[in-house]
Amino acid sequence: MLRSIFVLFIFIYPLAVFSVIRPQEISFIDQGRLLAVTAPDERCVLIIDPAKGTIDRKIELSGRVKGLAAWENTLYMPEYETQTVQYGFDNLEALPVPVPPAGLAVAPIKKMLVVSSPGLNKVAIVDLMKKVPPTVLSTGNQPNAIAISADESFAVVANQLPALSALDTQTAASVTLLNLNAKKIIKTILLPYGSTNTRQIALSPDGKWAYVVHTRGRVNMPTTQLERGWVNTNALSIIDLEAKSLYASVLLDNVQRGAADPWGIELSPDGKTLWTSLSGVHEIAKLDLHLLHGLLDGSVIPSEIRKNDAKARVAWDVWEEIREDPAKRTELQHDLAALYAAGILSRYPVPVNGPRGLALSPDNKTLAVSGYYSANIVLLDANSLRPVQTLSLNDADTESVADKGEALFHDAVKGFQGWLSCATCHPEGRSDGLNWDLLNDGIGNPKNTKSLVWSHETPPAMSRGVRASYDVAVNAGFKFILFAQATREETEAVKAYIQALRHDKSPWLFAAENEFLKRIKKGEKIFQSKKTGCATCHTGPLLTDQKMYNVGTRHDLDYHDQFDNPTLMELWRTGPYLHDGSAADLLEMLTVLNKDDRHGVTSHLDENELKDLVAYLLSL
Ligand code: HEC
Ligand code: HEC
Repeated sequence: MLRSIFVLFIFIYPLAVFSVIRPQEISFIDQGRLLAVTAPDERCVLIIDPAKGTIDRKIELSGRVKGLAAWENTLYMPEYETQTVQYGFDNLEALPVPVPPAGLAVAPIKKMLVVSSPGLNKVAIVDLMKKVPPTVLSTGNQPNAIAISADESFAVVANQLPALSALDTQTAASVTLLNLNAKKIIKTILLPYGSTNTRQIALSPDGKWAYVVHTRGRVNMPTTQLERGWVNTNALSIIDLEAKSLYASVLLDNVQRGAADPWGIELSPDGKTLWTSLSGVHEIAKLDLHLLHGLLDGSVIPSEIRKNDAKARVAWDVWEEIREDPAKRTELQHDLAALYAAGILSRYPVPVNGPRGLALSPDNKTLAVSGYYSANIVLLDANSLRPVQTLSLNDADTESVADKGEALFHDAVKGFQGWLSCATCHPEGRSDGLNWDLLNDGIGNPKNTKSLVWSHETPPAMSRGVRASYDVAVNAGFKFILFAQATREETEAVKAYIQALRHDKSPWLFAAENEFLKRIKKGEKIFQSKKTGCATCHTGPLLTDQKMYNVGTRHDLDYHDQFDNPTLMELWRTGPYLHDGSAADLLEMLTVLNKDDRHGVTSHLDENELKDLVAYLLSL
C-alpha cells in the first residue's frame, strides 16, 4: 500500500516568510539525512529534514540563488546580485566571483569552482583557496548548467539558447567543453538543428559521455498541427567527450504523447540509469542507459532482446539499421518509437506540478523531485518511481492569479497531447531564439519568437502588428499553437502572468567595471544623438514609439517591408535580433545588416563607438 505523508510546513514556518516559494535545485547532503533546496527568485536556501518533515533551517543570503552545488557537507550557493558564492554549512565563507553567478559546479580535488553567468554569456573558473586569480571565458548563449568530470580534467557547460542567426540552417543551443587544466575552451558542440532550452547536464561516471536534455523545434515546418512531434519534440542528446562531438540525440516522446519541456537530469552512480523530469507534462522518465548504449554501439543484438510487441517492429528496425551502419544513429532524432519499443524508456506521472530538480539519495533508493508550481518536494522510490513522501512548502491559497497563469503558461497538458507549452517557445516568458512559421501573417515567412516582457504595454503585438494587442495573441496562442480550449479564467490568468513580467536588471550592470560603465554612458550619448537617430523611433521608457517602419530589414521570405518597432528592454537576453532573428548579435545588426543606414545611421561610427553603443544596448 502506498503511504504518503503530507506535511504542511506552514504550521512550522509562518506564511509571511515567503510569498510563493518555487523550489528548483535540490541536493541531498549530510549522508542523505537532509535536503538542500533553492528557489531561483528567493534569497535563501532551505534545509529540509525529510525524516522529521520539517525545515531544519533557512540559510539567508543576499542575492537570488539560481544554482546549487554540494560536496560532502559543503554547500555552494551563488548569490547573483552580489557576485559572490557562499560556501560551507554551519559557517559560511564568501568567495567573490568576477560575474553574477547562476549555474555552478565544484571540483573538490582541484579546489575549483566553475560558475556560469547567463546574460554575460561567460563562465568563470575560480580558485576556492583564493590564491590564483579567476579565469573568465566566453561561452554560447545563456550558459546555465555545468558538470565537471570525475577526474576534474574538464567541465561541460550547457548553453540554453541558440547563438546563431535564426536563419542559419544549423541554429541550435550548444554545449561548451572546457579544459580545466589549461583553463581554456576546447570546443563548442551544436545540438541538432532547432534544439533549444537545455536545462540540466550530467556526465557518465567514466567521463566518456555528457547527457543533456532539451526541446527540439521542428522550425522548418509551419505550425499547422502538433501530431507526431510536427512542431516540437523533446530530446536527450549524448555527447561523446573523447571524440568531442554529438554522438546521438534520442526522443523522450511517445508517438501520441509528447514529453514536453524536459528539465532535471540525474544518473545512477554506475551510469546505467538516467532519470529526467518532464516539467511540462508532470512526469519522470527513466531510461535504461546501459541498454541504450549497447544498442547504439552495436554490442547488443536487437533481435536477441525481447520485442515488446508487434506494433513496435518499425521502430525496432532502426536498431537493426544502426547495428549495420552506425551512421544511422542520426535517424533516432526523428524516431518517436525507438526508445519505448526497445524497453529503454518508461514514463511515470508524479504528484507535482512542474517537476524540475532531481536528486538521488546516497543509498540510491530515493529520488527527490522538486515541484516548481506545486511548491512541494516529493520523494519517490528510485526504482518503481512510486511516491513515498510529499513535503509541501506552501499553501495553494497564497497563489495569485498571475502565479496560476505562470503555471498554465508552463503546462503542456493543457495543449494537445503534451507536445509543448507556451514556455517551450517563450522560456521564462522570453524567447527561445528560434524562428517559427505561425500562420497569423501568412505561410512561409517565419518570425523570431518575441519576448513577452512589456508586451501588454506595447501594442500592437507580433512583429507585423497583426494582433491588436497581447491579449488577442494570448487567446490565439491557445487556439492556434497549442490547439487547446482555454477557459476565460485560464486566459485571464495567463494575461495576468504576462502583465506581471518585468525586465530583469542587466547583469552587465552588476559586473561593470568603471571602464565599461564609461562605455555605457558614451553609448547612450550616441544612441540619443541626432546623427544616429536611434531615439527618434526608440523613445519613451520602453524605447519604442509602437509604430511600424521600413528599416531595410526585409528578408527574401517576407511579404512586407514594415515591422513593428519593438521595445529594447532586456536586449542582453533576447538575441538573436530583428523580426526574423537574422542578427546573431547587436554589432552585426548595426553593421553588416545596416549597410545603407536605413536602420538609424551607423556607418560613421568607428569600432570603439560601435562597442560603446552595443554596451549601452546590453545594459538596458
Ligand atoms: C511554437 C512556438 C510558440 C508557442 C508554443 C507560443 N508562441 Fe507566442 N509567439 C511565438 C512567436 C514566433 C511570436 C512572434 C510572432 C511574430 O512576431 O509575428 C510570438 C508572439 C507572442 C505574443 C506577442 C508578443 C508581442 O508583444 O508582440 C504573445 C502575447 C504570445 N506569443 C503569447 C503566447 C502564449 C500565451 C502562448 C501559449 C498559449 C504562446 N505564445 C505560445 C511563438 C510561440
Ligand atoms: C525609423 C525608426 C527606427 C530607427 C531610427 C531605429 N530603429 Fe531600431 N528598430 C526599428 C524597427 C521598426 C525595428 C524592428 C525591425 C525588424 O524587426 O526587422 C527595430 C529593431 C531594433 C532592434 C532589435 C530589437 C530586437 O529585439 O530584435 C534594436 C537592438 C534596435 N532597433 C536598435 C536601434 C539602434 C541602436 C538604432 C540607432 C542606430 C535604431 N534602432 C534606430 C525602428 C527604428
